[in-house]
Amino acid sequence: MSDLFSLHGQVALITGASRGLGLAMATAMAEAGALVVLNGREPATLEAAAKTLRARGLKADIAAFDVSDFAACERHIAAIAQKHGRLDCVVLNAGINHRRPLLEWETEDFLRVLNINLTGCFVLAREAARVMIPAERGRIIFTGSVMGIVARPTVHAYAAAKAGLAGMGKTLAVELAPHGITVNTICPGFFDTEMNTTLTQNPQFDAFVKSRCPLGRWAQPEELGGAAVFLASHAGSYVTGHMLVVDGGLTINM
Ligand SMILES: NC(=O)c1ccc[n+]([C@@H]2O[C@H](COP(=O)([O-])OP(=O)(O)OC[C@H]3O[C@@H](n4cnc5c(N)ncnc54)[C@H](OP(=O)(O)O)[C@@H]3O)[C@@H](O)[C@H]2O)c1
Repeated sequence: MSDLFSLHGQVALITGASRGLGLAMATAMAEAGALVVLNGREPATLEAAAKTLRARGLKADIAAFDVSDFAACERHIAAIAQKHGRLDCVVLNAGINHRRPLLEWETEDFLRVLNINLTGCFVLAREAARVMIPAERGRIIFTGSVMGIVARPTVHAYAAAKAGLAGMGKTLAVELAPHGITVNTICPGFFDTEMNTTLTQNPQFDAFVKSRCPLGRWAQPEELGGAAVFLASHAGSYVTGHMLVVDGGLTINM
């Protein structure tokens, strides 16, 4: 059974892995045996996270770059593949949110969110595919959101990007399937991370999440690790173009 979920011998890049959901998924994947390459913008933060993993006997490296610097995305994918001799999986997870009533949105902010949350994922997926196609195997995983499925006010660019990832996940899945590459989108619900600090500390919003979600609570970041290991491992070998919703039942609740 454990072999089914094993990532031993594999190399995985996880973007936005300095903290939060990215670090939780990277930790679970490292525990499953992968060498995980942690991405974020600050080398010192990444090195501290990698050191914590290594202290536990896990394999971790870092690749510091901004995912909206598209030339850097290209350079780093090639460098990771060259340094480690392979690249089996990319978890394209780095993301930001920007919340404003519609009439207060600056177009520049809309484009900034799209560049980080969507276009960077496209560039990284394309560059990863360049490495994976000759290997005839690979796993591309996007972190989408329930906000790409259902709606709340103010998060216009975020919702556009997350719905975009889900759509692009399907076009990539059909195009890359002949090369043995699967492409899936994990759609988390409400997780207790830094991105949501203002929401978890807002009693009204906290009560909304707890009443709206059938499991009656916020999720902890570690609760996303299993989904990433499943999609990256042999257990997920026939799953592609899928949106894996991890939301405590939020989106199926009337
Ligand atoms: N938390 C939730 O409830 C939830 C729900 C649905 C989806 N998501 C999605 O899950 C992903 C992770 O969210 P989180 O909650 O873990 O957020 P978080 O705690 O704010 O972490 C965001 C991560 O993204 C990195 N990052 C931000 N901008 C970046 C850039 N331009 N280039 C490279 N890295 C960048 C950050 O690293 P540095 O700041 O160190 O660079 C950090 O590691 C996001 O895509 C988010 O949309 C979260």
